[in-house]
Order: sequence, then structure tokens, then C-alpha cells
Amino acid sequence: KTEVLELDRNNIDEKIIKKAASLINEGELVAFPTETVYGLGADGLNDKACQKIFKAKHRPADNPLILHISDLEMLEKLVDDIKETDKALFKLWPGPLTLIFKKSKLIPDSVTAGGDTVAIRYPSDKIANRLIATANTPIAAPSANISGRPSPTNAADVFFDMDSTIPMILDGGESNIGIESTVLDLSEDVPVILRPGFYTFEFLKEIIPDVRLDDSLVDASVRPKSPGQKYKHYAPKAKMKVFVGQGAKDYIYNLANSYKEKSYRVGILGFEDSKEIFKDFNFISFGDRNDLSTMSHVLFSALRQMDRMDVDIILAEGVKENHLGKSIMNRMKKSAAGDVNYIGDK
Ligand code: TXA
Ligand code: MG
Repeated sequence: KTEVLELDRNNIDEKIIKKAASLINEGELVAFPTETVYGLGADGLNDKACQKIFKAKHRPADNPLILHISDLEMLEKLVDDIKETDKALFKLWPGPLTLIFKKSKLIPDSVTAGGDTVAIRYPSDKIANRLIATANTPIAAPSANISGRPSPTNAADVFFDMDSTIPMILDGGESNIGIESTVLDLSEDVPVILRPGFYTFEFLKEIIPDVRLDDSLVDASVRPKSPGQKYKHYAPKAKMKVFVGQGAKDYIYNLANSYKEKSYRVGILGFEDSKEIFKDFNFISFGDRNDLSTMSHVLFSALRQMDRMDVDIILAEGVKENHLGKSIMNRMKKSAAGDVNYIGDK
């Protein structure tokens, strides 16, 4: 039986935090909120505890975990060398940024999946911060979903995947950002973005001008450097098709009607201005089309809602691949297993 305990971010009940931290220190798993998505946490210095994460998520053993810290001091023991130039990025911490360094000897094999680097994130969520600080150990945490499913952005979505598998979920409401952290590899000469997130390529370039995108993010036929990026991911039960461009909305409308004639249950993911024309369909809104932060906030929960509506096909409107749109499309492409179509002007 999984216990779900509600916490108020602005008035955190330390008794609940202590209980959760004790579980972590005993080598158990606790799911907790972060500003990006919910994490499935274990003591990051306890190899056996980290192995439980792989089992609970059905996660492939070659996919390394992120260690979450509660202050910059924690970082020193975990990594081998920090370059002077890397320190400019610390001003983005705490926040939705994961940095990859050469690992120290302290790090268990299950965290790095056998590699010589370790991913570190200093989350800004206050509940996450209290949990890590109270457990007094870095917390290893991937997103708290079964591998391959959309990441959970609220406690109910974690519960759906993890009920009876883990002892505790800390419920801090909806994750604000909604897509996972930007993963930036600092372990080689040139900093490389392995996974785009709230911090975009364009934004990071202002701080570290030589940053580049992993080749796989530019050319889909290249194998990603980050192990987690090569798997099927963020997938709803139904097949999903994404359409982008000036003509996308009308194209989706016509296609939706032809599926409907064939008695398909059609799910539509579109913007607020499409709500009216799709009133006869299972429609979920991404919000205003000029507000990509709302889109990233609702994307994963919308995919899970489509599952609950039990639709046969999902037709979704995508966005231009720059700034936050690049991070969002990175997820949507995977949800749709690459079925992304450009209609008219990009
Ligand atoms: O926002 C987030 O990052 C969330 C919250 C819970 O912090 N966590 C998260 O973890 O998304 P996960 O495990 O679902 O995704 C971590 C990604 C995977 O693609 C993994 O392969 C990659 O980071 N990664 C972890 N360690 C790595 C390493 N040493 N080298 C390269 N990639 C690494
Ligand atoms: Mg994940």
C-alpha cells in the first residue's frame, strides 16, 4: 500500500519530511515533487536502494540516474573536477538544469549505469530541497513513471504508475514547469545539451557561447549520447500524430472527421483557439498558442488524460522547433514515435 501525504509548499510539515527522509535513509523509495516533474527517489549513495528504482520503473539497466542535491556544498564530494568555466552555470541553480561531470569514487555503479560520469541537479522546489537536506544525502531520482510512459506532473499520475510498488508519495500539487530538466554535459571539452528543457539552447548560449546541441537533436538519425534519449518515451496508449505549421489546425480538423466516420474515438490536443471547432471531439487545450510555458506545463498530464478517455487515435498540434518549442517538440516527437508532419509554412 502506497501512502500519499499532502504538503503545502509554503508551510512545509517537517514531521512528514522526517518520515520521508527516514524511508530514504532506510534504503526505501519515496516519490517527491520537483519544479519540473515528480521524481522517484532513493539514497543516491546506496547502491541497493538505487537498484530498487530500476525495478520499480522497469527501467533498462544502462540508463543512468540523476543525483539531486540541496546545496552546492554537496556537489564537491560527488564529482571529480569542476572547471572554472562551469561555475558560470551555477547561477541557474537551484533550477531545472542537470549538469554532467566526471564522477567521484563515492558514486555507486547503479547511479552511473557503469559509466565514468554523473548527472547532478539542484532542484528549486522547496519540498524536494527539504527532503534532500533532511535525508542528508544526494537523492537519486528519475521521473516517477513506468519507463516509456509520460513523466508524472502530479501525485495522482505517480500513484497510477507506482501504487503498491513504493511506500510513499509526497504530494505537492502540480509541477510548475511540466517537462524535465535540461541535461547539459560538462564532462568533455565543449558543453553539449543532451536533453533540451526549460533552459533552451538559445538561452544557454548567452552564458556559455560554445555550447552545442547533441547531434541527435539536430539529426534524428544520429544515436543520442544520453542513454535515456534512445528509448521509446512519453508514449500514450493510442497512436499519436503531430501536425505543425499554418495549415495544421484545418488539416487536423479534416483528418479528425475522417477518423470519426470510421467510428474511431478521436482525441485532439490543440490550442485554446481550436476549442470551438473540436467541440464534438475529446479535446484537451494546450492554452494560448503564444504561451509555450503553459503548453509544457500541461503536455504530459494531457497525454495521460487521453489514456483515461480511452481514445483510439490522438491528433496533436505541434509548435516551431526553437526556444522552448524545441524542448516541447523533443517530447512530442517521442510520444508520436516520430510521426510529425509539417503542413504548409513551417
Ligand atoms: O527534471 C528532471 O530531470 C527529472 C526530475 C525528477 O529531476 N528527472 C528526470 O530523470 O527526468 P530521468 O532519469 O527520467 O532522465 C534523466 C536523463 C536520462 O535521459 C538519462 O539517460 C540522462 O538524463 N542521464 C543521466 N545520467 C547521465 C550521464 N551520466 N550521462 C549521460 N546522460 C545521463
Ligand atoms: Mg524519465
